[in-house]
Amino acid sequence: MNISIVILAAGEGTRMNSSLAKVLHPLGGKPLLAHVVETAQALSPQHIFVVYSKQRPEVKTALPQFEQLIWVEQEQQLGTANAVACALPNMKEEHRVLILYGDVPLVSVDLLQCLLETDSDAVAWLTAIVDDPEGLGRIVRDDQNQPLAIIEQSDLARQQQVIKEINSGICLLPVSFLKQYMETLSVENNQHEYYLTDFFALAVEKKKSLTLVNADQPQQVLGVNNCQQLAVAERIYQQQQAERLMQQGVTLKDPSRFDLRGILHCQQDVIFDVNVIVEGKVLIGQNVLIEANVVLRDVTIGDNVIIRANSVITQAVIDDHCQVGPFAHIRPKTVLKSHSKIGNFVEVKNSTVGQNSKANHLTYLGDAKVGKAVNIGAGTITCNYDGVSKHQTVIEDDVFVGSNNSLVAPIHIGKGATTGAGSALSKTVPAQKLTIGRSKAVTISAWKRPQKPKIDS
Ligand code: UD1
Ligand code: CA
Repeated sequence: MNISIVILAAGEGTRMNSSLAKVLHPLGGKPLLAHVVETAQALSPQHIFVVYSKQRPEVKTALPQFEQLIWVEQEQQLGTANAVACALPNMKEEHRVLILYGDVPLVSVDLLQCLLETDSDAVAWLTAIVDDPEGLGRIVRDDQNQPLAIIEQSDLARQQQVIKEINSGICLLPVSFLKQYMETLSVENNQHEYYLTDFFALAVEKKKSLTLVNADQPQQVLGVNNCQQLAVAERIYQQQQAERLMQQGVTLKDPSRFDLRGILHCQQDVIFDVNVIVEGKVLIGQNVLIEANVVLRDVTIGDNVIIRANSVITQAVIDDHCQVGPFAHIRPKTVLKSHSKIGNFVEVKNSTVGQNSKANHLTYLGDAKVGKAVNIGAGTITCNYDGVSKHQTVIEDDVFVGSNNSLVAPIHIGKGATTGAGSALSKTVPAQKLTIGRSKAVTISAWKRPQKPKIDS
């Protein structure tokens, strides 16, 4: 296909009021610009140019995952036509160029295909009819309803302000046409910028074939200029993802209270209760219940698992038949083997918990290797940090750790050992025996409880 794509991403984004470049603001967990690049790639053009601002080099470095992009620096933000002009010298004369906007992230591949289907020397423009055209360029037509020009909001005459047919910004132009007339543009407008939209009127004037493609779902061409529009785009995107998941058979108790900021693959019969946030790459097996207010970040979950409410799980592997939470915090490099159980107010980090083992209440397991069928009593803590280094706790199979133990690492607890409640243990605990590490209780018979002086009322 003789198509090049230019993505404009050099605008100042002033209306975002943010130190982060506008096109790097996340939508569904990835930068606005990444959405547009992915859409562009799906069209398999010959080249994809991304115009970024000299003042914002971070835009270029923020997307290292995309190879084969041709990055073009725009020195000064002189307008959308100037941005296109920066990429123009590298374009083939016989190509057409599809212009996408780094801040219009929801446009679909199918809609863009409609533009690409127009005649190879035509100018094609993507438009929409919207209820609220505020801030957008309007399509101005003549008495015969023929398109004449695109007029920017700030240049509109009073009677033109009611026009609801708008410019999405996205258009397809022959490179030769751009090259021929780029130098003729002027900045005689209210923003003193070189407007790409001037090529629309030029196409009319020069009698080029001009096709307007109307986006029948205007939300696809929503531009993100401020935080309100970013929030609107986020909800639309989340709704689309929720619908796709439900079509695949995933149960969402309330699709408007489910947020996916990454990739999610579910087997059959997975249920999400409300307010779940899924980030990064999450894989879930079959017959899994995720209760309310859970955060899952880069997690792999097996079959028949229950994650109870208010748990936060990051970079962990949870095998079949496990139960986690409520209020559990599972941190990176945790592996929960099948049928294990992590209960309320338990934190686990860089640890493996063996098959059928349990830590049901108020525990910290850090840098621990816990064997099979181990019971960890309430309030037990692995003291893994000496202020300088982290040390490992090894608990072998069938161990019973009493409540409120402090296991001072490095420490090894032998197979089948039992430890007494309230023990502070810092040496190897022998297998199959009861070990108690607490001072004996002392009773002082002669002690008298102090009394408050009596005050006469
Ligand atoms: C632009 C259109 C407007 C359209 C709207 C749709 C023009 C003159 N106006 O207005 O008709 O309705 O988009 O969303 O084209 N950019 C650069 N370099 C620049 C200026 C802008 O790369 O010098 C980039 C921005 O990063 C952005 C895009 O071009 O991705 C559009 O710029 P923006 O300033 O947001 O234009 P709008 O006012 O939204
Ligand atoms: Ca814009």
